[in-house]
Amino acid sequence: MTILQLISARVQAALAAAGAPDASANVQPASKPEFGDYQANGVMAAAKQLKTNPRELAQKVLAVLDLDGIASKLEIAGPGFINIHLDPAFLARRAETALADEALGIAKVDAKKVMVEYSSVNLAKEMHIGHLRGGIIGDALVRVNSFIGHNVVRQNHVGDWGTQFGMLVAYMVEISKSGQADLELKDLDTFYKHSKKRFDEDTAFADTARDYVVKLQSGDAEVLKLWQQFVKLSLTHCNAIYQKLGLQLNDDDVRGESFYNDDLPVLVEELRQKGLLVEDQGAQVVFLDEFKNKEGEPAAFIVQKQGGGYLYATTDLGAIRFRVNKLELDRCLYVVDSRQSLHFQQLFSTARKASWLPESADFQHIGHGTIMGPDGKPLKTRSGENVKLVELLDEAVERAFQLVTSKNPELPEAERRQIAAVVGIGALKYADLSKSRNTDYIFDWDAMLSFEGNTAPYLQYAYTRVQSVFRKAEDFDPAAKVVITEAAEKQLAVALAQFEDMVFAVADSSQPHHLCGYLYNVATLFSRFYEACPILKSEGEVRASRLQLAALTAKTLKSGLGLLGIEVLDAM
Ligand code: ARG
Repeated sequence: MTILQLISARVQAALAAAGAPDASANVQPASKPEFGDYQANGVMAAAKQLKTNPRELAQKVLAVLDLDGIASKLEIAGPGFINIHLDPAFLARRAETALADEALGIAKVDAKKVMVEYSSVNLAKEMHIGHLRGGIIGDALVRVNSFIGHNVVRQNHVGDWGTQFGMLVAYMVEISKSGQADLELKDLDTFYKHSKKRFDEDTAFADTARDYVVKLQSGDAEVLKLWQQFVKLSLTHCNAIYQKLGLQLNDDDVRGESFYNDDLPVLVEELRQKGLLVEDQGAQVVFLDEFKNKEGEPAAFIVQKQGGGYLYATTDLGAIRFRVNKLELDRCLYVVDSRQSLHFQQLFSTARKASWLPESADFQHIGHGTIMGPDGKPLKTRSGENVKLVELLDEAVERAFQLVTSKNPELPEAERRQIAAVVGIGALKYADLSKSRNTDYIFDWDAMLSFEGNTAPYLQYAYTRVQSVFRKAEDFDPAAKVVITEAAEKQLAVALAQFEDMVFAVADSSQPHHLCGYLYNVATLFSRFYEACPILKSEGEVRASRLQLAALTAKTLKSGLGLLGIEVLDAM
């Protein structure tokens, strides 16, 4: 059990024994050291329910609360809080267990099948800054959920279907005649622009493009082959970015919109048979009473356009059917820009109405905000275009290289480049993950690359500092006993013991910024411990124990950053 689960269960039992079996223990890490290490806050609400005096109830709870071997001191504070001071010996045993286990002693959950759908780019164009957040957040969620034992399926729901692709394929055919295709396709955005220009200016070309769309949708082998070529090529652009950014996505995770094509007429027909479909201005729509507009009219979720075409929404319904029936997912996390929030609400609601999405399946939109420029508007290039992701990543590494060079000019260049890749990409990822995903944030190179504050370079540097202690301590005993006596040792040990709860909480809420805040706290507490409690200058058991706390700090930082997809270095 995690520490929080353990304490909560004991307080819960005590509340029940004191006559409040329905009360919630409401145990939380204490917000100030004076309040102990944990605080049980549930007594007040329980007393209110029972119409009794909260301090008296707290007394009763305390009389039966069994935290032997876990807490060394309990006290009642304020109107009825219970302050819990953990027993140093208990913390020492937890630390030893975490040290002895590769996964830091973290309990495995009841394994569920969890899909994380992320990145999901439109293959017609090149990846830009708008794809950064979803990629980084999705990848962290993959790592966190896998770490605690879930069976995780990564999914890249790429946009690979629709009229644009007829145009692109037509243009690809046209320029390959002049032998220029390879060159032009190096830059997808230019390729897209040129083909759009041809489409707008030349009616014969536009006709061919439309003809290709029809052929594509009817499964014409020739056109399908060309389309596949284009899709494959566009995916190599994506893969190069995933690699630079250290995302786990690869070709096996791709299941594009096209995959659901055959199911679209089937599912629309099924909606009709279920009596959910209404014709509205020629289109087929599902009316959803729960989403009313300003005039009080129910929102229409369009599943088939006038003229018979299908839409983004139809494909998403097909994907839900596949994910529930074929993949048998327990949980599906759609990591997508928050601006699509209404789409997902309507999608889930329609799928539930059609009984395609059972109540037991936990399908969620994991929305995220936008990356803003200094002017508070979505970040663009000077000429007002989307910032290409590949250029942004290269700039991050280049800036980190300048920084590393100014700090360590004596290191060989190859080494500085290696460090720069880890620091630059780490900084970019951490800057994103450390902010609440729900809000927008202003992009700031200097802040993310700073060695001070809640940043990746700060944490990566903290890790190397611990490593340097080990380089100097030649006689480290990895099985040494942990003994906690000093306040700084205890505070660090409490934080280290909270890693398990933190990881579970992030898996639950899909909010990685809590893990960032946690790691920053660990690094800060380590600095304090390092100053207050000499490691290498101490002797015997004390020295061995402090080295153990340092070892667990390093392990926790490495593992925690690893869950965020951020690497560490032994020296930098
Ligand atoms: N390709 C879409 C876009 O670029 C995102 C897809 C999100 N996922 C989904 N299942 N709808 O906006």
